[in-house]
Amino acid sequence: MQQIAIPPEDEISKTLQIIENKEHDPNHLVKLLQEIQSELGYVPENAQRLIARKMNTPMSQIYGILSFYNFFRLFPPGRHRVTVCLGTACYVKGSRNILKEITSRYELEAGQTTSDRRFSLDIVRCVGCCAIGPVMTVDDKVYGRMKPEKVKTVLREHR
Ligand code: FES
Repeated sequence: MQQIAIPPEDEISKTLQIIENKEHDPNHLVKLLQEIQSELGYVPENAQRLIARKMNTPMSQIYGILSFYNFFRLFPPGRHRVTVCLGTACYVKGSRNILKEITSRYELEAGQTTSDRRFSLDIVRCVGCCAIGPVMTVDDKVYGRMKPEKVKTVLREHR
């Protein structure tokens, strides 16, 4: 999946469009943030500030929501979405070591994007391929029976 970067001014105008159509009710913040992420690929800080102002809500409350739910992204998505499954079946087969290899090799944590915007990394909890765990995915492709030493080869396929 190839992601296209959205200029910051477009992020603002898209955020405004989404906010304009909503009730200014803090109880709907999660849904609103989800809509923004679905439109922009993440929830930029500019959007957070706009929401805080328009909905008369403290930034700390917005940040609290964004950090509580691990599906929210605070960074722009990379060209390729990498996930590591930490569901039980994969975890017991060593998926933590796959995650550790990616985080140390590419210097990124789950929820982040590499500085060259090549990869975003997320943790998932079962992709339905438990029999071939530990599993990682890149975009829509599933890589089973992963080992830390195979990570470099897999990621090299995705420029
Ligand atoms: S637990 Fe990893 S695919 Fe099911």
